[in-house]
Amino acid sequence: MYSYKEKYGEYLSLFNARLEKFYADTRCEPRVLDESIKYSLKSGGKRFRPVLMLASAELLGVEAGVIEDYALALELIHTYSLIHDDLPEMDNDDYRRGKPSNHKVYGAGNAVLAGDGLLNTAYYLLFERCADGKQHVDAAKFMCGCAGVTGMIAGQSADLYCAESGERDADMLDFIVKNKTGRLISAAAAVPAILSGGKYFLELKQFGEDLGRLFQLTDDVLDEEGKFEELGKTAGKDREENKLTYVTFYGVEQCRVFADILLSKCLGLLDGIDGDTSFLRDMVNFVRYREG
Ligand code: IPE
Ligand code: IPE
Ligand code: MG
Ligand code: MG
Ligand code: MG
Repeated sequence: MYSYKEKYGEYLSLFNARLEKFYADTRCEPRVLDESIKYSLKSGGKRFRPVLMLASAELLGVEAGVIEDYALALELIHTYSLIHDDLPEMDNDDYRRGKPSNHKVYGAGNAVLAGDGLLNTAYYLLFERCADGKQHVDAAKFMCGCAGVTGMIAGQSADLYCAESGERDADMLDFIVKNKTGRLISAAAAVPAILSGGKYFLELKQFGEDLGRLFQLTDDVLDEEGKFEELGKTAGKDREENKLTYVTFYGVEQCRVFADILLSKCLGLLDGIDGDTSFLRDMVNFVRYREG
């Protein structure tokens, strides 16, 4: 019988096998570069984006052997974004994934380079796949768009700008969330669609963006109400850093209402997709009710 936990574990094992191969194939010099990159990657994390990508691929009939490099590239990009996000000049966070942040161990300079290294390695993996044809080029370009100056970077820049300037408005908040978090999660859902020749591309792209909004909303609530033991990062930082978040803008009560609306929207989008979407549905519920 189907169990969400077991299925998540199966996707995780697949992803971890690809990650192990990556560790074995990749030896950077000098040693501090190798260590700092692997320190953040090996600290754990939910691996939510690669699991979502593997699940979306299975739904659309894209082989695991094809999608696994994209899943790896996406997790490398996500991990780099966290290393840079924690830097003193950004969110100034001392803990990540239950351990001291990369810059607390290796210093800010090495942390910047570890992040740069992860991003470049992700692009190297994507370029390698591009030799397999046009759909791969399209998928790689889509991922770069999600990660870059019209995607995650734009969201992070707006996040920083609002914290520093104190500017607050609902459109700006949505711009921040859609880009800093929504776009990478959207890439996880929609890249398999591109590789399958466009099957349900628009639905999955939208699904990923809304799931990303829900993901950031629960992250913001957990920053307000969560505990270090579950989060692996310091709570209460958004207020301290004057961040524009769902919680600081709307308040926790309104966030719960908004979370239920986003949950329904995500499930509604899945209704329009043929095939077994049970796992994706459970992922949506996980994000809505997660505690870490
Ligand atoms: C944290 O992402 C950053 C946000 C977009 C809120 P995750 O909650 O997926 O972090 P890990 O990968 O599990 O550490
Ligand atoms: C992070 O948003 C988004 C990215 C890293 C791109 P947050 O700043 O809220 O994430 P956490 O709370 O530090 O994980
Ligand atoms: Mg941030
Ligand atoms: Mg942060
Ligand atoms: Mg946060």
